[in-house]
Amino acid sequence: MLRLPRTIEWRDGVVRLINQKELPDKLVYTETHDWRRLAKAIKDMEIRGAPAIGVAAAFSLALFAWHYTGDSLEEFLSGLERVAEEVKQTRPTAVNLFWAVERVISRARTATSLEEARKGVIEEALRIQKEDEEANRKIGEIGADLIDDGDTIITVCNAGSLATSYWGTATAPMYVAKERGKNFRVIALETRPYLQGARLTAWELMQAGIDVTIATDNSVGILAMRERIDLAIVGADRVTRKGWVANKLGTYPLALVSRVHNIPFYVAAPTSSFDLNAEGPGDFEIEKRDPNEVLIIKGIRIAPEGAKAIYYAFDLTPPQLITGFITEKGVLYPPFGKTIPRALL
Ligand code: MRU
Repeated sequence: MLRLPRTIEWRDGVVRLINQKELPDKLVYTETHDWRRLAKAIKDMEIRGAPAIGVAAAFSLALFAWHYTGDSLEEFLSGLERVAEEVKQTRPTAVNLFWAVERVISRARTATSLEEARKGVIEEALRIQKEDEEANRKIGEIGADLIDDGDTIITVCNAGSLATSYWGTATAPMYVAKERGKNFRVIALETRPYLQGARLTAWELMQAGIDVTIATDNSVGILAMRERIDLAIVGADRVTRKGWVANKLGTYPLALVSRVHNIPFYVAAPTSSFDLNAEGPGDFEIEKRDPNEVLIIKGIRIAPEGAKAIYYAFDLTPPQLITGFITEKGVLYPPFGKTIPRALL
C-alpha cells in the first residue's frame, strides 16, 4: 500500500498543500483560505507539476466561491472571471491549469442561481482532483506492464505523486509495478535548478521503498552507455495534437540519448495534459523564470556577482523521439497525429 502524504487537500473553505520548496528537509504545509495566496503558491512553486497546478487553480476558484459574501449571480460570475484571469497569469506552460479553470468556469455559467453557481464551482474543483487521481492510477496499471523485473528506469524532474492529486504520472507505473512484486531501480536526474529529481522524486520513491539513485543532468550520455537502462518514463506539461511534448528542462536531451541507445522513451500523461488546439512547438508559451533561480541556490550564490543566466523552465521534445504516451485511455503509439486526436475526441 502506497502511503504518501496528500499534495493538496480541500477542507471546507481552506486549502492545505505541501510546501514543496521545503522538501526534503522539512514536510511542512501551507494552509490558506485566500485564493490570492493560493495563486501565489502556484507562481512561487510551493506547489508544482502540471496536474497539481490544475487542481490548485481549480481550488483557487473554489476558495473565491466559498468565501463570496455578495448576493448577485452576475456579480459572482464576473468576480469569478477576474479570479480566473489572475490565476491564468501564474504559470503559462502546463495546459492543465487552463483546462481546469475553463472546466470550473463553464460549470458556473450553467447555474441559474447564486447558490447553485457557488456549489457547482466547489463540486467541479473536487471532481477534477478525484478524476486526476483515478486517471493516474489507470496510467499506473497500464504502464506497469512495460516494467520488467530487474529493469533500470530513468526519469527526469518530478512527475510523481507530489506533482498530481496522487500516484503521479511517470511514477504511477513504478508504484503499481512495486505492488505487483517487481524489483527494479530508478535513476532520477537531479533536474537543475529547482532540483525536482534530487529533492522530490528521490524523496517520494524512497518513502515508497523503491530503489532510487540520483544522477546529475549532464550524465545522461554515460549513463546510457554504462548503466544498462531499459526504459525512460517522463511526464508532460503539455502535449500537442501532433505529439510534441513540453516537459521539464532536460527531457529533450534524455529523449535524444534514449533514441541513439535504443532505450524506449515513454511520456506518461493524463488526457488533461493534451492540448488539441496546439500543433507544433511554437503554439504556446514556454515559461522563462527569474535567472536568479539559476544563480542562487538555497540562498547561496554559485556564480560570480553580475554573471548573467538564462532559465527556460521547460524544453520541447519532438514526436519522432517518443515511443509512446501512457494515458488513462491506453498507450498511444505513432502516428501520433492520428492516435492522439482519436483517443481524445
Ligand atoms: O516546473 P515544474 O516542477 O512544475 O515542472 C514539472 C514537470 O515538468 C513535470 O514533469 C510535469 O509537470 C508532469 S507532472 C505529472
